[in-house]
Amino acid sequence: MGQRLDLDDWFAPLGLTEFSRTALGQRPLVTPPRAALADRLRDVLGVHTVDDAFGKRVRDVRAWFLDLDGNASAASMPAASARRLYDAGTTAYFQDVADFDPLEREVAQTFRVSPGSGKVQLFCNRPSAVTKVHFDPVDVITVQLTGCKTWRIAPNEFAPRPLKGWGAGEPIGPSLRTYQENPPPETIPGNVKEYRLEPGSVLHVPRGYWHETFSTEDSISLHLLLIPPLRMDFLLAALKNELAGEAHWRESVYDFTTPAEAAARTAADLAALRAALDRLDPRDLVRAPLPTAPVGPETRFTRAGQAAFGVDALEPGAARISVSAYGFRETQTAAVTVSAPALPALRWVNALPAGTALDVADVLREAPGLTKPEAQDLLGLMEQTRLVRRSPEEPLP
Ligand SMILES: [Fe+2]
Repeated sequence: MGQRLDLDDWFAPLGLTEFSRTALGQRPLVTPPRAALADRLRDVLGVHTVDDAFGKRVRDVRAWFLDLDGNASAASMPAASARRLYDAGTTAYFQDVADFDPLEREVAQTFRVSPGSGKVQLFCNRPSAVTKVHFDPVDVITVQLTGCKTWRIAPNEFAPRPLKGWGAGEPIGPSLRTYQENPPPETIPGNVKEYRLEPGSVLHVPRGYWHETFSTEDSISLHLLLIPPLRMDFLLAALKNELAGEAHWRESVYDFTTPAEAAARTAADLAALRAALDRLDPRDLVRAPLPTAPVGPETRFTRAGQAAFGVDALEPGAARISVSAYGFRETQTAAVTVSAPALPALRWVNALPAGTALDVADVLREAPGLTKPEAQDLLGLMEQTRLVRRSPEEPLP
């Protein structure tokens, strides 16, 4: 271990960037077997045999089996009995392996998802292992490491781009019904494609694609799972950041009002929500590189959204503060010390609605203890920590 998965050549002849832009989450992709890739990945994972898999620091390994009704089922295997169950013919699904944590970070970085949204897992299949037709709410990239495994996959016209997984025969929940487009199929649809994966074959199964698998021999496969960033989640997260700064939106609303009171409150809140939505700015959600030009006496700024400041501690003549710039993938926090006379200006800027214009004169008015160069420096600090944006703005690269 200590190495990287290094996904650059996994999808050859497609490069990693081309795969990410044109295939990931959109269309299936399969590559021919490549013994060299399987060799390399077995080395990187330190998994050549099933003994190696059981020798890892495993947080969760699951038994993968069909129940008496023929439905795929899984149950956690206690470490003490996992190996015996595997030897007795149970397929082992290594869902959470501590030794793969650095690889999961690499996967999240490679596909630009938040830490925790990339999983690195192993399937150790026994002969005759079967997974009944189902779909998952995640994008899957699998590489066969040893043995062979057959996949049958088909596009999902029943519930495209699903938010939850579902398997044939299961009850359809209310949340799935919001985007159910066709009656549920009982078996995998007719436009199915079958792939027999041999060591070094890579298969991408996009989110929602129907799939079923079977193997006639022992096999080990590597599975990368990506929890995809959804268009609506990206914007809802930004809206929530915008709302969370106001006590009004943090108020509890228990359901003990009359219907008329609840309707009136909801109507007023929807109007306020539309105003909050109008304060969201793409420039706060898609961050441009920070300007390098110094702040001059005439430089103008705009209170940015998605950033907030707080005082960590007051010291004689100074204050230790932290500024957080909230992002969908990650939140950046800068801890700095500022002079005490700067605090009133920081508090004033922090309370401004996103989109408000401000300049050096405003800072001097709010913090009369500052000199003009100090006010410029303070605005520079606010810009570097994303509390304010420079206006007019440079176009995004
Ligand atoms: Fe699956």
